[in-house]
Amino acid sequence: MERKNILVTGGMGYIGSHTVIKLVEYGYNPIIIDNLANSSEKVLPRLEKITGTKIAFYKGDVCNREDVDKVLSENKIDAVIHFAGLKAVGESVQKPVEYYRNNLDSTLTLLEEMPKYGVKNIIFSSSATVYGTPTHVPLVESDPIGQATNPYGQTKIIQEGIFQDYCHVHPDFNVALLRYFNPIGAHASGLIGEAPNGIPNNLMPYVTQVAVGKRDHLSIFGDDYNTPDGTCIRDYIHVVDLAEGHVLTLKKLFENPGLVIYNLGTGKGTSVLELVHAYEKATGVKIPYVIAPRRAGDVEANYAATDKAEREIGFKAKYTVEDSCRDSNHWQQMNPNGYED
Ligand code: NAD
Ligand code: UFG
Repeated sequence: MERKNILVTGGMGYIGSHTVIKLVEYGYNPIIIDNLANSSEKVLPRLEKITGTKIAFYKGDVCNREDVDKVLSENKIDAVIHFAGLKAVGESVQKPVEYYRNNLDSTLTLLEEMPKYGVKNIIFSSSATVYGTPTHVPLVESDPIGQATNPYGQTKIIQEGIFQDYCHVHPDFNVALLRYFNPIGAHASGLIGEAPNGIPNNLMPYVTQVAVGKRDHLSIFGDDYNTPDGTCIRDYIHVVDLAEGHVLTLKKLFENPGLVIYNLGTGKGTSVLELVHAYEKATGVKIPYVIAPRRAGDVEANYAATDKAEREIGFKAKYTVEDSCRDSNHWQQMNPNGYED
């Protein structure tokens, strides 16, 4: 049978690159478009090494019609997985116009270009941030959309709305909104992983940089939350599990379901202190930390209800937080400066 072509926007980034590998493993043909705004061209040869396959890559901007037109006209695309976007919460507060322009324009451009080529299936990278400040956990897909505390979160809420409105008038179009919880970990090869620019904002890359001695200690933002150990609780999901969730979702889209929404998480909450201890246990590396003031905008606890994704697409996270810590550490030890030499 002919392999299906999957256009992966943002496929050179952290989650996209891991998904490209899963696509190859499951017999799909991934085609990447990425403008390298937040990724390195060194990802491509590493993906080819891991998969043993040549991977098609278009350097292009998903906000640019000609760039999208080129890849859609040169390939018969069966589905799009739309990872491309800017994602740094703090930066989005400083550069709101850039965030709205890039994130909304890329989605609008795809929705204008895809119909010209008869492409009717798309998976969109949404986020647990759309739930706002939870009034309860676990978070269920039918829970109301919350209030975003930053422009990044607002772009995810607006993009979900754009897809809903589009599907309303195009019943033959299929969209999966995947709400990711906190992706961590890396491919077991240690060849690809998360490589933030500058000082990491997120917990795991900060911890791995402490582990390799690039930073002397972690600051834990608050230990006076109403949680068992006082630190915030999140649902940390291994990026390889997350990648698998996309491939399972593709199968669902090809059944023509219209619009579907799934949480992708483990269903298990882990506190910041528990994550630090899991890291130490999994790697044998000590992570010095200090307790610092709370970080503005942090929610106390969130984790996913996973029943719907399990029931409808057969998704269940396989890796533990310790597995993720081991793999993140391995990636960082092998690449102390990320993709830079
Ligand atoms: P990433 O920055 O590593 O990857 C995004 C990729 O998109 C990068 O390679 C970047 O160069 C590319 N890109 C950005 N704008 C583009 C454009 N206009 N045209 C072409 N390429 C463009 O981020 P990631 O962690 O892999 O996240 C992927 C998606 O998942 C994003 O939409 C993000 O908002 C979403 N998400 C991420 C997280 C997380 O914690 N990592 C959580 C929830 C949702
Ligand atoms: N934390 C620290 N020290 C650090 C970094 C983080 O204590 O140096 C804590 C945070 O306070 C939080 C937890 O670790 O309690 C997780 O923080 P992250 O920044 O790793 O993750 P968030 O859950 O805050 O943010 C993530 C994504 C956002 C998304 C948000 C909501 O990074 O893109 O989830 O879904 F908007």
